[in-house]
Amino acid sequence: MEQLHVATSTHDYTISIDENIRFNIQDYLTKKYTTIFIITDDQVAPLYLDDILYGLQDQRVVHTVIPSGEATKSIEYYYQLQTVALENRLDRQSLIIALGGGVIGDLAGFVAATFMRGIDYIQVPTTILSHDSSVGGKVAINHEQGKNLIGNFYPPVAVIYDVHTIQTLPENEIRSGYAELVKEAFISNEDFLQQLLAQPLSAISNEQLKKHLYEGVKVKAGIVEKDEKEANIRKYLNFGHTLAHAIEATLGYGRITHGEAVAIGMLFALHVSEQKYGRDLYYNELLTWLTDNHYPLSLFNIDMDTVIQLMKLDKKATNQEVQMVLLQQIGKPTVETIDETTLATYLQTFKKELTAI
Ligand SMILES: NC(=O)c1ccc[n+]([C@@H]2O[C@H](COP(=O)([O-])OP(=O)(O)OC[C@H]3O[C@@H](n4cnc5c(N)ncnc54)[C@H](O)[C@@H]3O)[C@@H](O)[C@H]2O)c1
Ligand SMILES: [Zn+2]
Repeated sequence: MEQLHVATSTHDYTISIDENIRFNIQDYLTKKYTTIFIITDDQVAPLYLDDILYGLQDQRVVHTVIPSGEATKSIEYYYQLQTVALENRLDRQSLIIALGGGVIGDLAGFVAATFMRGIDYIQVPTTILSHDSSVGGKVAINHEQGKNLIGNFYPPVAVIYDVHTIQTLPENEIRSGYAELVKEAFISNEDFLQQLLAQPLSAISNEQLKKHLYEGVKVKAGIVEKDEKEANIRKYLNFGHTLAHAIEATLGYGRITHGEAVAIGMLFALHVSEQKYGRDLYYNELLTWLTDNHYPLSLFNIDMDTVIQLMKLDKKATNQEVQMVLLQQIGKPTVETIDETTLATYLQTFKKELTAI
């Protein structure tokens, strides 16, 4: 088993990564809880809920299953889950378990962060992407004006990552998760980046997957430990995300996965970085890898004015100017402010390049 420890301003927690550890959640509980409330979705529940329940037979456990998909990261589902928690008499000594991908993790985490001013929760991620979202304590729901606009920093008390669960993921979710791994490589480690870009997604062994996830979690954990509240270097994890969030909002959540949008966002950030810093930053290599692995690049054929307006709404935007994470070199990210006219020019040239392929 691989384990990593993260120190936060409130407590330390352990990330455990291995196969089949979902059966033994009990072993990772560091205190006695009055009630354990498992929150999961209707794709994950039939596959893994019983396995989790199996390991918690001595506890008072309740669970709820909500529809899968980004739409549940909403004020309505947030409220509904608070109601379920109250009806089941959860108290301040209760625990929430988020069993699922990033949607469940963000939503259940935000419920935990605010139920009776905050109770413990554990992340049990089941997607590749949630190697990223389950670590670092960012929890949130969406507002119709944008993603993750209502939320908090609220670290879990443990992350239990059973990589065996990845085997049931559909192809677009594998692409989604690998995009975040590629992101972590771009901002930190050229060797890791080369390994990933040499890897066809259709031929990954379990061993390779485990190794890639461990590397990704290590990058993420290392950054959030140094900058828990995104005062400085944590911003680098938003590489590719300013445009990605705008693409997701323009297309409507669900047309494209989060990571697939991040993939296009990273490519754009490299397009800007290569021109701004005048050096080769793997734009062509990334484009080839994304094309070979069937990332939906053609979906970028969308209205640029809408995209720009949405980019200006981003949480990181200040005074209507857009902030983007760019790369000076592989492993050397920087945050730059870009005015609207320059942004529009870069977006037009990028769109032309993408729609020409
Ligand atoms: N908090 C953070 O730091 C952070 C970081 C990155 C992303 N996010 C958020 O994460 C969310 C995306 O997460 P996601 O990509 O995991 O999406 P998701 O939770 O919607 O999961 C993707 C799909 O896969 C299904 N699924 C989950 N596990 C499965 C399994 N093992 N087998 C088969 N199907 C499975 C789900 O039901 C869903 O349909 C976004 O809302 C994004 O904003 C948060
Ligand atoms: Zn992301």
